[in-house]
Amino acid sequence: MSTQSSIDIPRKAALELLGLVRDEGAYANLALAQVLKNNALNGRDAAFTVELAYGVLRNQMLYDSLAQECADREITAIEPALLDIIRMGIHQIVAMRVPDHAAVDSSVNLARLNVNDAHGKAKAGFVNAILRCVVRNFESDSSEISTQDLSLAVKYSHPEWIIDSYREALIASGRSASELKALLKENNTPARPVLAIRSGESDIDGTSSGRWSTQARVVESTVPQDIEAVRLGHAIVQDEGSQLVAQAFLLSQPIGPESAWLDMCAGPGGKAALISDSVPSGVTFIAVELHAHRARLIERIINPETSVLVADARTRPWGNQFFDRILVDAPCTGLGALRRRPEARWRKQERDLYELTSLQEDLLNAALDSVRSGGIVCYVTCSPHVEESRMLVRSVLEERGGAQLEDARPLFPGIPDLGSGPDVQLWPHVHGTDAMYFALIRRN
Ligand SMILES: C[S@@+](CC[C@H](N)C(=O)[O-])C[C@H]1O[C@@H](n2cnc3c(N)ncnc32)[C@H](O)[C@@H]1O
Repeated sequence: MSTQSSIDIPRKAALELLGLVRDEGAYANLALAQVLKNNALNGRDAAFTVELAYGVLRNQMLYDSLAQECADREITAIEPALLDIIRMGIHQIVAMRVPDHAAVDSSVNLARLNVNDAHGKAKAGFVNAILRCVVRNFESDSSEISTQDLSLAVKYSHPEWIIDSYREALIASGRSASELKALLKENNTPARPVLAIRSGESDIDGTSSGRWSTQARVVESTVPQDIEAVRLGHAIVQDEGSQLVAQAFLLSQPIGPESAWLDMCAGPGGKAALISDSVPSGVTFIAVELHAHRARLIERIINPETSVLVADARTRPWGNQFFDRILVDAPCTGLGALRRRPEARWRKQERDLYELTSLQEDLLNAALDSVRSGGIVCYVTCSPHVEESRMLVRSVLEERGGAQLEDARPLFPGIPDLGSGPDVQLWPHVHGTDAMYFALIRRN
């Protein structure tokens, strides 16, 4: 890939992806495939585009602060595409092995090509001035920009409310607030895709073993779509934390004989797929999903014995049926999976919690109304935020009675540092997984 060419396709593609995320609300990981295809990018060029666009999405608060130090006007008030070009230049200077002159020149070229108004030349000059100043400020001998004086929020580019929620969750799960930095750093580290092997050969070229789950393979040197086992449906892409949750559900032990299992929030079907592979004979398994398009994704990967219902689980569309095991993998803020969703930290708002916790409460109540005596409900979120995890579970159980928390840690055998219990909280900086929360509840 040329670093100086005037038609620099990988950088142009990164800028295009950032525009789609900003202007059309696209999810970077979903829009990426189309952008790479449109620009005929693959191999190292595609990897460069991904690193650049994802790096900017993750670190934009820090990069805006570094740019602001060099600017004579409010940096966030400049036109969005120009700001993205500056952020891309800074990412190349401080986080990629791109020579400074190439980072600056390619950014100036991008500005010239993409800003087509009468002030195009001046804007390219502005980009040039800012990036040269950032280069000067960058301490090349320390390999890290001098960020000692910055707040955690700016240094690690996370909104304050998310940092506060992590601090509270670390303490609530029996850990220390001093781990915050390690957690924030981990959120900024690209996570390799992980596969869950469902059948066939588990030794797959270009992958290595997972850390905990025997089903897990970490994709090292290719993309999941190029792996035959994925194309054939023998493996699915699934974070190891989610695999552990599905395995914990399978390890849970309702009292007495079993005949029916339920996944109340099943789309797109990752956990339901793993569970459906191990449903014992004589047991029926129902997967419910509110949205038809997500239900179709479940149908594509689920064992065909499973029934898929498109419905609002709060209305208990299964009628008066009672279940031995119920999984409530509740819709949540997703704060535990930020390392895989680079733009999510800026899209989520603290106020989203009001609506979400009300939905989560209703879903958990519907589950507790539908589990038989001696049966279990596994309440799960991919967020450690206490208001949608441990506090919510305790408040629902206190209000209704008739069910209690049990120690979930034995359902995660061999996994250290699961917290003070009885709930389980996984952490990216400790376990290398998404921050999955898991509560084991038994009905009296
Ligand atoms: C966290 S995701 C579940 C992930 C899934 N268990 C997996 O492993 O792939 C939550 C899902 O719940 C669905 N959902 C939201 N509200 C629902 C409701 N009232 N009833 C049923 N499903 C709902 C969402 O559409 C979303 O697909």
